[in-house]
Amino acid sequence: MDFIVDRQDLRSCRVVSPPSAPLADGQVRLRIKKFAFTANNVTYGAVGDMVGYWNFFPAEEGWGRIPVWGIAAVDESGHAELPVGERLYGYLPMSTGLVLTPGRVTAHGLLDAAPHRAALPEVYNQYTRLAAEPGYDRAHDDRRMLLQPLFLTAFLIDDYLDDNDFFGATTVVLASASSKTAFSAAYLLSRNRSCSVVGLTSAPNRAFVEGLGCYDRVVGYDQVGELPAGDRIVFVDMAGDAAVLRRVHEHFGDNVAKSCQVGLTHWEERGGSEGLPGARPEFFFAPSQVDKRRRDWGAAGFQERSARAWQTFLDETADWLEIVHGRGAEAVERVYRDAVDGRIEPRQGHILSLN
Ligand SMILES: NC(=O)c1ccc[n+]([C@@H]2O[C@H](COP(=O)([O-])OP(=O)(O)OC[C@H]3O[C@@H](n4cnc5c(N)ncnc54)[C@H](OP(=O)(O)O)[C@@H]3O)[C@@H](O)[C@H]2O)c1
Repeated sequence: MDFIVDRQDLRSCRVVSPPSAPLADGQVRLRIKKFAFTANNVTYGAVGDMVGYWNFFPAEEGWGRIPVWGIAAVDESGHAELPVGERLYGYLPMSTGLVLTPGRVTAHGLLDAAPHRAALPEVYNQYTRLAAEPGYDRAHDDRRMLLQPLFLTAFLIDDYLDDNDFFGATTVVLASASSKTAFSAAYLLSRNRSCSVVGLTSAPNRAFVEGLGCYDRVVGYDQVGELPAGDRIVFVDMAGDAAVLRRVHEHFGDNVAKSCQVGLTHWEERGGSEGLPGARPEFFFAPSQVDKRRRDWGAAGFQERSARAWQTFLDETADWLEIVHGRGAEAVERVYRDAVDGRIEPRQGHILSLN
C-alpha cells in the first residue's frame, strides 16, 4: 500500500496498492513499522521537483511518495547478511513496504545502491542497523524519528553560525519558532553561545514558544517592528514566508548580517526575495554542511560530536512532547491533511503506520 500525492496539488492524495515484484538476488523487502510526520515532510513535497525529493521513491506518473523518517524490519531477504526480522532506521516512503538493493553493508548499517537513488545525497540513502547501534534504546524510537533529523539540521546551523563568528551579529532571529527544527536550534544557541535568540511565530503558538524557555524573546509575525532595529542579526528562516522575510529585512536593513533560508513551513506563502536590504537570503542545505564537517573532523569525529549533542538534547528536553500514534490509511490521511493546512499542535508529534 502506498500513500501518494499529486505532485502539483499537495491536497490531492490517495492510497494505492501496486502489485509487488519478486525480489532480485541481494535485495531485501522491508515492512515499514512506523514513521514520523511533520511540516518537514510537507516541505519535501512542496519543493519535491526543485530539490529531487520525488526521486527517492518513485510513483505513477504525476504522483509522488513523500519521504519520511522511520523504522522498518526485513520481511523477506535475498541478502546473506540481512536476516528476516532485522530492524533498520532511515529514509522511507509513506508505504507499507520498500525494496532495498543494499550496496555497502557493514555491522552498523547499509547503503541503498538502487540506481535511481545513486545521484541523491548519500545521507538519505543510509540505513542504520538498530541492533548493532551502541547504546540503542528502543524506548527512544518515536522521539528519534520525530526529532533527530530535525535536530541534526539545528546542530549544523548552530555549528555553521559559530564557525563563521555569527557573521558579526549579536542576535539570531528564528522564524517559525514553534517548529521542531527551530526550537532545537534555539536550544543549542541558548546553551552554547553568547548571542541573544529571538523567536517569531504566529499568535496561536506564541504561548507555547514562550514556555519552551530557549528563546530570550518571542514576538508575533506582525510585531517584528517592535524589535530593536539597531541590533545586528542573523535571520534563520524556517517559515519561508515572503511577507515575513520582507518585514525582517526592511526592519533591520543593513543590520541583517546573514539570512539563511532553511525551511518552508508557510509553504503557500513563498515568494521572491530580490532587492531586499541587508545580506542576500541564501538557501541552507544541511547535507552540504555535513560534508564540510566530515572533511574537517572525519566521519567518526562528526558522528561523535553530533551524537553527543543529540543525546544531551534527548536527555534534557522533549519530555513535554506528546506523541500521538495513528494507524491505517484514514489516520495517515488525516494527519497529512492537518500538516498541509498547518493544523498540528506544536506540542504534538505524530507517529504513523500504514501496516
Ligand atoms: N534545509 C534543511 O536541510 C532542513 C532540514 C530540516 C528541516 N527543514 C525545514 O524546517 C521547517 C520546519 O520543519 P519541522 O518538521 O521542524 O516543522 P514542525 O515542527 O512540524 O513545525 C510546525 C510549525 O510550522 C508552522 N506551520 C506548519 N504548517 C504550517 C502551515 N501549513 N501554514 C502555516 N504555518 C505552518 C507553525 O509554526 P509557526 O506558527 O511558528 O510559524 C507550526 O507550529 C520545514 O520547512 C523543514 O523542511 C529544513
